[in-house]
Parts: sequence; C-alpha cells; structure tokens
Amino acid sequence: MNSAAAHNSDAVRHLYVHFPFCARICPYCAFYKTRGNSADFAAFCDALAIEAKYAAERISLKLETIFWGGGTPTVLSTEQLASLLRLFAQTFDLRRVSEWTIEANPGSVSAKKAAVLRHGGITRISLGIQSWEDDLLYLLGREHNARQAEESFRIFREAGFENIGIDLMFALPGQTEAQWRASLERTIVLEPEHISTYCLTYEEDTEFLARFERGEFHAEDDTEARFFQIAMSMLETAGYKHYEISNYARPGFYSRHNEAYWRGADYIGLGPSAFSTRGNERWQNIEDHREYARRLSAGESPTASIEKLTRAMKRAEQIALGLRSYHGVPANLVAASNTNDLVEAGFVAYRNGRVVLTHAGKLVADSVAEELL
Ligand SMILES: C[S@@+](CC[C@H](N)C(=O)[O-])C[C@H]1O[C@@H](n2cnc3c(N)ncnc32)[C@H](O)[C@@H]1O
Ligand code: SF4
Repeated sequence: MNSAAAHNSDAVRHLYVHFPFCARICPYCAFYKTRGNSADFAAFCDALAIEAKYAAERISLKLETIFWGGGTPTVLSTEQLASLLRLFAQTFDLRRVSEWTIEANPGSVSAKKAAVLRHGGITRISLGIQSWEDDLLYLLGREHNARQAEESFRIFREAGFENIGIDLMFALPGQTEAQWRASLERTIVLEPEHISTYCLTYEEDTEFLARFERGEFHAEDDTEARFFQIAMSMLETAGYKHYEISNYARPGFYSRHNEAYWRGADYIGLGPSAFSTRGNERWQNIEDHREYARRLSAGESPTASIEKLTRAMKRAEQIALGLRSYHGVPANLVAASNTNDLVEAGFVAYRNGRVVLTHAGKLVADSVAEELL
C-alpha cells in the first residue's frame, strides 16, 4: 500500500476520523455523507480498522487530540462504537491524548451509548442542536426536536461528560431575531462549556441552494451581521470567550484539536473523504465509502489525490485561519501598508506583534483576510 504519509518524519499530533453516515440527509449540508445500511456500517468499521493500523505502523504519531466527525459518528450502534474505541486503544498510544471529541446528533443518543463513549476514552462531545425551534428544525430536515435535544444534553452530562459543545446555526430562512435570542438563551441556560454558531451557508449541490436560487430563500449581509452581533454580545455577557469567528468557550475549554488546525499544525485524517496535511503535502482519501472499504480490504491505498503546498498557499491559509482566531497572525507575515490602512479603517489592530481583528473586523473577516494576502 503506497501513501503520501510515508515521506515526512516529524511526529503528527492530531488525528481526524470521518464517519460518512447520517440517519437523515439535511438539505443544507455539503459534507461527505450518505444514509448507508448495516452492511455499509460494518464494512466501514472493518476498513477503518485497517487504515488505523496502517497509519499507526507507518506514520510517526504522538497523538494529543482526536476528533471523530462526519457525517454522524453516533449513528453507528453502541457495539460498533465500543469496538472502534477498543481498536483505537489497542492501535494508538493514547497516553498524551488530552482531548478526544465525537460529533453527536441528538437523534442518535442513548444513555448506554453515552456511557460507552465515556468509558472508551471520549472526553468531549460536540452536539449538533442547530436550533431550539421545532419549526426551524423541521425546515433543516433534522431528525430531532427541541425536547430530544435537551434530553440528549442531559444524557451526556449524566454520563459524566464535563466538556460539551453545542452547535447552533443562524440566519436561517424565516428565523427572527427574537427566535435567535431565545435559542442562545436556552443554550446558555444549559451551561455547555463550548458553543459554535454558524451562519447558514448556501452550499453547492444542496437542496437549500436550489431553493435559494429559485427565490424561496433570501440571504442579506445586514441580517447575517445582526445575528452575528447578537451572538457575540449575548455569549460574551454570559462569560464565553469569542476565541474564533464561529466559536465561543469557557476559559480552558477551547477546542485544542481545532486550534491546531487553525495554527496550521499537521494532522492525519482517516475515513472516506478525509484530508491529511503533513509538511508540504496534503492528501485526500477517496470520497466514496464503498470504494474506501473495498480498497482497504484489498490492501490498496485509500488516497485519491495528493497536492503539494507551496509557500504562498501555506501563507494564505495561515492568514485566513489565523485572522479568524483570537491569536491573529504574526505582523511580519502581512504587508505593513495594507495592515496600516485596515488599522485606520478600524478593522484590525496590532497586539503583541500580531494583527488581530477588531469587533468591526469580525463582521467582515473574509474580506479583511483578502486585503492582507
Ligand atoms: C460536520 S457538521 C456535522 C455534525 C453533525 N452531523 C450535525 O449535523 O449535527 C458540523 C456542523 O456544521 C454546521 N453546518 C453544516 N452545514 C452547514 C451550512 N450549510 N451552513 C452553516 N453551518 C453548517 C452545523 O452546525 C453542524 O453542526
Ligand atoms: S448536517 Fe450533520 S446530520 Fe445533517 S447531513 Fe450533514 S453531517 Fe449529516
């Protein structure tokens, strides 16, 4: 089996696993996912076991964070999750792992599953609640309602999880500011350690984009900015630190895995469609779970493409990702003249030799990053 992974020698500290299955397909989602059936679930688990062992043998790893994302990892059965957790414990050295996240959907949570995750080493839950309004959840095609969302949060707390993040979406079709405030309020009351708030994006090849193009949905910059400001103000008042454009956390609960991505650290991705980045190389696994499983069972590599990262590409990523985080970017990475113009316009500021977004800059982060490139 050949893979791009064999070339570089620095130890990799971050591992992502893409679980490609969901109970239902949300009409706005562009991540690689499919419904799958029980044979697909089993074939995926077998293939992941092969890929994990292969990665552990061939790549120098000193794992500090693991992220099981998707898709919906919790759609797998309790037994399948238990067996994958055991496999990871046998395959990888987990002694340095301080954060192991799993993305969970309220529709596929039970007390038994939560207990298995907790005892199997998962330390952090990222719970996709999205909204607390049943009519908006219906529009989003979610399999859960607000009552189930609250119940799943309680289940994870009772299972002993002390690091739970809640994902919410805003600027949804028909969503009012009052509804958004109420959603934030209801989230704050639960006291999660972490809250992500994502502005709805109309992604390519989604039903939502088709509806947007037919004129059924509208997106306005002013509305999005207002919703964003409401989140910033309410969550900061509630004691959450706005540590990245879409992310808020209690002190000590920033996502270490995501912070590693944002600062450009190397990571290995397992599972169909997963990206890995090591040194100047980025590669992606095949975006087809059956072909992924077939290749691994036949002893073939699941890598579909390899890309060389140039200095210019790495710099552009460092600026775009760094600027979104409260760390900002090193001032010597960007031209002083552009930066000074943006300082004068009130969009960025200098802090300890770094350039950071101001409050006004956070509203137009992507354009500011472009100006700095
Ligand atoms: C990888 S997704 C999946 C997590 C999980 N399956 C779920 O749906 O709850 C992570 C987060 O991305 C956000 N997301 C997905 N599609 C989005 C879109 N088109 N616009 C904005 N946020 C989106 C959702 O908040 C979701 O919780
Ligand atoms: S948003 Fe989550 S549950 Fe919905 S289709 Fe995407 S990955 Fe699956």
